[in-house]
Amino acid sequence: MNLLKNGSLWKDSDGNPIHAHGGFIIYYDNFYYWYGEDRRDDYYVNCYRSKDLANWEFRNHVLTTDSKTKHTRVRTQLSLVNGDHTKVNIERPKVLFNPLTKKFILWAHFENGKDYSEAAAAIASCDTPDGNFVYHGHMNPFGYMSRDCTLFQDDDGTAYFISAARDNADLHIYRLSSDYMNVDKLVRKLWQGEYREAPAVFKRKERYYMVSSYCTGWAPNQGKYATSDSMDGNWTLLENFGDETTYDTQPAFVLKLNEEEILYYSDRWDAENYINSSYVLLPLQFEEEKLILKYYDQYEIDDDKNIQFK
Ligand code: DGJ
Repeated sequence: MNLLKNGSLWKDSDGNPIHAHGGFIIYYDNFYYWYGEDRRDDYYVNCYRSKDLANWEFRNHVLTTDSKTKHTRVRTQLSLVNGDHTKVNIERPKVLFNPLTKKFILWAHFENGKDYSEAAAAIASCDTPDGNFVYHGHMNPFGYMSRDCTLFQDDDGTAYFISAARDNADLHIYRLSSDYMNVDKLVRKLWQGEYREAPAVFKRKERYYMVSSYCTGWAPNQGKYATSDSMDGNWTLLENFGDETTYDTQPAFVLKLNEEEILYYSDRWDAENYINSSYVLLPLQFEEEKLILKYYDQYEIDDDKNIQFK
């Protein structure tokens, strides 16, 4: 039995704090792989894996200042450090397994580490889920600014990159190329002037849901969600979920275990000391299509992988 407290520093199986913020989980070959930000030392993205969502084994610093680089597009800035040797920012890393190329493709938000003026999307790839990812540089999709972001893979393998454009005012949905290495089409511009950040998408009972936060730096705010019958379709107006600070959280990603068990993974940022930021895991609950988020202080995962929130 594993009891985990929300808002505390969760530890990996070696007893070290898990550094995987703004992250993402995929299920591959009987393991959950958790990717997320690590801002310490020369690290950018870490990968942990687990069979039960409770015991996390640290696997690798999959993207660091020393990662190998490789051009895949012309005129792409490939460097993972600035000219003065300072670190850049790689935020909100997300990874999908591409069924055609059999590669793991990472997308993230790229900034220069000094200010938030680059507003670009960074891409990397790897042959294994937890190997050393090769960095393919950053770019502005079709020339647009691109900040907080997520990935979503539909049942037919079509993948989408969702990111905040126009200084965060609008949220764009891009369909990816079949190799997931580039944007193929801007399929939707959403919620003009609503300043949505931290998007996370999931599909339940043939309906697409997107949760997001408002744009207030590291401070939490009222979470909102919307739904649609397709990624490029007519999304509903934004509706509130959770309380006015979304219980002091910002969405990282949503993990669907099945139609009834859908998990909201979020960051509880420490604005003064980023490394002390923690995680909050809550169940998403539904009344018909209405999304409900209630707060639970802790959760327990038993040997049969059942999660109980308390
Ligand atoms: C909010 C974003 O969601 C985070 O990923 C990060 O970019 C902070 N803003 C920086 O202030």
